[in-house]
Amino acid sequence: MPRFFPTRLALPLLLAALGAHPAAAQSDPSKISGPDACAACHKLEAAAWQEMHHFKTFDELHRRPEAKDIAGKLGIANIKTESTCVQCHYTSMGPAGAAKAIAGVSCELCHGASVDWVKVHNDKNNPNHIADAEKLGFISPGNIYKLASNCFQCHTVPNEKLVNTGGHQVGSALELVSWTQGEVRHHFLSGKTNTEDTPERKRLLYLIGRVVDLEYSLRGIANAVEKGNFVKGMNVRIVSGKAELQKIADALPDGAAKTDVLAVIAAAPKPAAAADGAGLKITNKDDILAGVKTISALGQKMSDTYKGADLAALDPLIPTANQGTPYTPAP
Ligand code: HEC
Ligand code: HEC
Ligand code: HEC
Ligand code: HEC
Repeated sequence: MPRFFPTRLALPLLLAALGAHPAAAQSDPSKISGPDACAACHKLEAAAWQEMHHFKTFDELHRRPEAKDIAGKLGIANIKTESTCVQCHYTSMGPAGAAKAIAGVSCELCHGASVDWVKVHNDKNNPNHIADAEKLGFISPGNIYKLASNCFQCHTVPNEKLVNTGGHQVGSALELVSWTQGEVRHHFLSGKTNTEDTPERKRLLYLIGRVVDLEYSLRGIANAVEKGNFVKGMNVRIVSGKAELQKIADALPDGAAKTDVLAVIAAAPKPAAAADGAGLKITNKDDILAGVKTISALGQKMSDTYKGADLAALDPLIPTANQGTPYTPAP
């Protein structure tokens, strides 16, 4: 069936490209509505967002001496127009070729570019409004795996040159419970109080966050080509990520969840590297990427099927100190 040929050719190429270069969370700029479109209905969420580093980076980043230093080392003249920084620090909006940075890390970099779903996700006349919006690219808080993937795509900082040549930090100590319940918290659908998540939801965030962290650390290292802080930092992240998952497995009673967590750990090969001329070659890249696929499927399965009520054994592991202070609306 020759008419299917282009699609069949394109899909594996696309998947190979995704595996090789996990793009940062930047979505298609022509499908971005911009944060004002969300704020029209989500006023308190927007007010909370304006207190976040994610918002402030838009006005502050290019003024910071550390940012100028990184840009200088990379030969970047304009931080706001250079895609290397825009990818993770800003939201780009506009038609292909004419998109520009309009905000910091805004709603749609976490919830999905919204042009196609914004009129669907709140349509209470449609009993499937959330599921239908998800088919159009909406990332609902119900899909913890996808939500977390966005965080770690940026926060593992999977850009070797930026780290090794630019001197950018090699990743964040992002842990999904403490980093969503602090300054990032914006829970206003059920009222005006910015409530913390339930213990049941925190258990899911904790477990899936650890799984996704390992997935994105492996994705990052699979593409490394030189010795330096990047490979070192990603390696540390993988080793400590596996150790945290082992603590989770040890805490869980025998059963399906424990088996899945052990399968995640087993799927993560130890990265092996050899000198390659002046550079470095990851010699088990295919194994690493196969592991990434397995881990990703297990993370999505946990997100789709696990119940926080079954995971009380994780409570002693979950951090209680939050990253930053949650926004409190004025009375
Ligand atoms: C016209 C008003 C309106 C606009 C504009 C709007 N929303 Fe919503 N949004 C709602 C309503 C109402 C709900 C609650 C839906 C429900 O309870 O099923 C909601 C729910 C949500 C949820 C939670 C859904 C879930 O799965 O529980 C998220 C996330 C969200 N909106 C993000 C956004 C973002 C991002 C934008 C901007 C691109 C946006 N919304 C624009 C009205 C709006
Ligand atoms: C792959 C994603 C990514 C890219 C690309 C990126 N950054 Fe960052 N950057 C981050 C993340 C995530 C943080 C926050 C880390 C944290 O707080 O743990 C950060 C933090 C920073 C900080 C420290 C902020 C502070 O609080 O002082 C500076 C400075 C910075 N980035 C500059 C840049 C510059 C300049 C560029 C472009 C040359 C750039 N970044 C590109 C992800 C990225
Ligand atoms: C598009 C990339 C991107 C995405 C997606 C993203 N972040 Fe960030 N985040 C950043 C950058 C860049 C900074 C640093 C901004 C600055 O200070 O200049 C940051 C800063 C933060 C901070 C403040 C850091 C500090 O040092 O106190 C928290 C907390 C945070 N992010 C949590 C999250 C969580 C949780 C998610 C997912 C729900 C997430 N981020 C998704 C890019 C991103
Ligand atoms: C850094 C990523 C990030 C950004 C930016 C962000 N959100 Fe969210 N949003 C999340 C996460 C994570 C959750 C679920 C948090 C949890 O489980 O505690 C969430 C939950 C929500 C909910 C459901 C809250 C509830 O009460 O159940 C709504 C609505 C929402 N976001 C809208 C928005 C809007 C509107 C913006 C922009 C003004 C925005 N978000 C910006 C990550 C983000």
